[in-house]
Amino acid sequence: MCGIVGYIGKKEAFPIIIKGLQRLEYRGYDSAGVALLNGELQIHKCKGKVQDLLNYTKDKNLHGYIGIGHTRWATHGEPNDVNAHPHVSEVGNLAIIHNGIIENYATLKEELIQRGHTFESDTDTEVFVHLIGEIKEKQNVPLEEAVRMAMQHVVGAYAILVISYDHPRKMVAARKSSPLVVGIGDGEYYLASDATPIVEYTRNVVYLNDEEIACIDLENGLSIKSIENEVRTPFVEELEMNLEMLEKGGYEHFMLKEINEQARSIKDSMRGRLRLEDKEIMLGGIKDYEDKIFNADRILIVACGTSWHAGLVGEYLFEDLARIPVEVEYASEFRYRNPIINKNDVVIAISQSGETADTLAAIRLAKEKGATVLGICNVVGSSIARITDAGAYTHAGPEIGVASTKAFTAQLTILSLMALRAAKQRQTISEERYEFLLKELDRVPEAIEQVMKCEAQVKEIAAVFKDARNFLYLGRGYNFPVALEGALKLKEISYIHAEGYPAAEMKHGPIALIDEEMPIVVLATNQHAYEKIVSNIQEVKARKGKVIAVTSKQDEEISKIADYVIEIPPIADPFTPMVTTVPLQFLSYHIALMRDCNVDQPRNLAKSVTVE
Ligand code: M6R
Repeated sequence: MCGIVGYIGKKEAFPIIIKGLQRLEYRGYDSAGVALLNGELQIHKCKGKVQDLLNYTKDKNLHGYIGIGHTRWATHGEPNDVNAHPHVSEVGNLAIIHNGIIENYATLKEELIQRGHTFESDTDTEVFVHLIGEIKEKQNVPLEEAVRMAMQHVVGAYAILVISYDHPRKMVAARKSSPLVVGIGDGEYYLASDATPIVEYTRNVVYLNDEEIACIDLENGLSIKSIENEVRTPFVEELEMNLEMLEKGGYEHFMLKEINEQARSIKDSMRGRLRLEDKEIMLGGIKDYEDKIFNADRILIVACGTSWHAGLVGEYLFEDLARIPVEVEYASEFRYRNPIINKNDVVIAISQSGETADTLAAIRLAKEKGATVLGICNVVGSSIARITDAGAYTHAGPEIGVASTKAFTAQLTILSLMALRAAKQRQTISEERYEFLLKELDRVPEAIEQVMKCEAQVKEIAAVFKDARNFLYLGRGYNFPVALEGALKLKEISYIHAEGYPAAEMKHGPIALIDEEMPIVVLATNQHAYEKIVSNIQEVKARKGKVIAVTSKQDEEISKIADYVIEIPPIADPFTPMVTTVPLQFLSYHIALMRDCNVDQPRNLAKSVTVE
């Protein structure tokens, strides 16, 4: 949720930290701060965005070759100057930044108060640094040891960076259930919540594992220990991303860029995996676990938000094509309801960020119960990618806009490949249908290129409905999850209330909402349930609702009854979600823009939800 950046080396730290925070701002943006060591421990922090911090620090002493910076998504304590990070220890010699939640902070705080500590903020983070400071003073141990010992008292999730006035050539980092990456330069080190602030300086990175403490000392370099005090050898990996992927590339917003990237990102997801020439599908990352899928009694899909919607499409795909029963679970519910998991179940965890706390917890539970767990993640090296038994990266490239777009269609691509591969192996579809679907899947990027042309028309529709108070999205079969996703996109970035429904369910309740003010987006592309969806549109029109229909053919019947018709290129039903979702992404984008909403950083949201 929060973004953390650190630099230790021979350059001025402040500009590197600020640039890094701007790259990480998608993670949280309600306050920001830095701590710099320059003979003194300088702390500058304020409410607002990184730009506000820049304005605030204009006349300050910003010199220093070691520093840490933070952009916050508030958990404990409202977003204000005092609660902004960094926080300092009781003596004031240590500064900390933190991403995560300390669950037992209230107890620890009470104990520290009884031992004479006083606190300035309402945050759990301040408690952590007071604890580290107290251990360091009382036990007279090195900083990294004090951090390690403090971690034994702290319950929760965290990635922290700590610097000390007394050790101006040292930085200590630690993580548990929140991500942390160390970039290794030439006699300098970059630390961050993910690799995006690091990639312009070095491609060599070390991803810290859970319960590890990294000590960076300019004399001795990087050393890592576990919470049990075992020495770990740093495993240096090479980053695949490049700087261009992190820029807006001429687009006004990241979201618009990411919508437009989808033909490319879907192609990248398929590259080397869909082999039309030899009619094969090869997902290298899960190859050794394919038999588990082919022989699974059941597939359980766990995810949150948009990734959960992708999971719902996965349910249709695996059941329709491969005839494997599927259950799709909100990770947050799954983890707490003592689920029944059998050893012949395969669990698939879907996550763009690979850091979602609930999804991580669901995976741990499934593993404890003996299930095989596969991951579908976008962020390379993320926690979920690392704790699953195997997985397939979506290869959509960094997704910076908080509202997920290209990651969703890339997740659908992977699920389509997996289901089609299982269908072939299990002989649940004919060879002829398999070949047809393989060709259709290969055609999706081209269909996406065509559907991009609908933007101007969708923008006009957006202008008509930008002031609507409610929206309804209806779809059947493969398009039902798309209706949910369309409604979520609109809610997140335009703050208009929207609901997605299976079209036929409308008459069991939501139909009561329909009047002449109500826009209803109907996904009417289904080949097998076409007449039924036409009837649903009739039912809406009979109540004077305004119908925006998404269809895949020039259709006189729908054109006559719908108020607006957005035509998309036809594609086989199992793959329509990848195409039908595009006009809905544009609709929410343009409505949000017309309502003056911050499209890339909608209020209250954060890109990766690393707390419960
Ligand atoms: O990184 P994840 O895919 O695990 O994230 C799950 C949700 O937090 C995420 O999809 C969220 O709903 C997005 N804001 C949707 O646009």
